[in-house]
Amino acid sequence: MTRRASTVPELSIVIPTFNERDNVSELIARLEQALGGIAWEAIFVDDDSPDQTAQVLRSLAQRDPRVRCMRRLRRRGLSSACIEGMLASSATYVAVMDADLQHDPALLLSMLTTLRRGQAELVIGSRYVTGGEVGDWQEQRLAISKLATRLAGLVTHQPIADPMSGYFMLRRERFEQLAPRLSSMGFKILLDIVATAKPPLKTLELPLVFGKRHAGESKLTTNVAWEFALLLADKLVGRWVPVRFLSFAFVGALGVAVHFFVLTALLKGLGVAFLAAQAIATGTAIVYNYTLNNVLTYVDRPRRGSRWFTGLLSFAAICSVGAIANVGVASFMFERASAWQVAALAGILVGAVWNFAVSNVYTWRR
Ligand code: GDD
Ligand code: MN
Repeated sequence: MTRRASTVPELSIVIPTFNERDNVSELIARLEQALGGIAWEAIFVDDDSPDQTAQVLRSLAQRDPRVRCMRRLRRRGLSSACIEGMLASSATYVAVMDADLQHDPALLLSMLTTLRRGQAELVIGSRYVTGGEVGDWQEQRLAISKLATRLAGLVTHQPIADPMSGYFMLRRERFEQLAPRLSSMGFKILLDIVATAKPPLKTLELPLVFGKRHAGESKLTTNVAWEFALLLADKLVGRWVPVRFLSFAFVGALGVAVHFFVLTALLKGLGVAFLAAQAIATGTAIVYNYTLNNVLTYVDRPRRGSRWFTGLLSFAAICSVGAIANVGVASFMFERASAWQVAALAGILVGAVWNFAVSNVYTWRR
């Protein structure tokens, strides 16, 4: 045997990063301090941060083999980053923590001890047990967090005080069993794990005093409520309907409203002929649907910059095939004396099914 056992990590700490360049080196120093005597590694998962976090990590990794950095391109998503980081581990235990030092690294040791002793399968750093604290949050964020925690209770199968925590540890093998069934949407990876595990994981919550962010700013400002809704919907009805289709249909329903608004304005307001009005309304709805699907349905892989425009072109191309069917069906029905509203709806329906099926594969391919 040439390899020393001590170089094999017992614990992988997965740390998702997006624009955290000024936090990572401090975090590694604190891990070192907190985990003396333990064989650990840090797996950073960076979504190609514009501030070059990955480059900073590369140079840290060249001096310290316990530091690794996975760089993901053209993707965003806290949950999926954590999942892929954990899947890159071969250690006995995996932990997830934030890079900004709001999660006290000192807690890792008690988490590890708890798991080693078999007192739990999952340990959570919890803000909502005695001794835990949320830090200097404003009333409003606290109220929202508490409401979300109650809603989360709908899918957790067991009472958990802080299912939204981003700080936890479990056996890697247990995680690997669950991984294929995770939703991996949004940023509530712990909730995803807890809701997926059946029978429930034996869980213990250790008090966490949620600290102040060290440098940089929070990323979880936009889309948070929407991603949370998608995760809940997936856990509640995902078995029967893919939640992406629900989202596409939701956006489509709003698109129908836009369509009718434009159509009515053209028909009744400007006296445009039905066919022309229907065609213009369809075009408007295409741009509208593309924009909304890009930020809502495909929130995990939106097209940006020049890809936004090429995406619109491909979506429009797909939709124009859908639109030919749409206008064809609509005018067929209109000529046969259907009410114009009914004719328009039938056209939209035929187009929509085609649009979802094809754009899911081409416009927003993985
Ligand atoms: N790879 C990757 N991709 N990392 C991300 C992304 C992303 O799209 N978005 C955020 N992160 C990283 C951040 O760089 C940070 O290390 C960590 O995820 C948490 O992000 P913050 O922006 O600091 O989140 P927060 O402090 O507002 O929220 C924290 O507390 C919540 C509890 O209220 C997180 O721990 C949440 O998971 C937690 O629910
Ligand atoms: Mn934070």
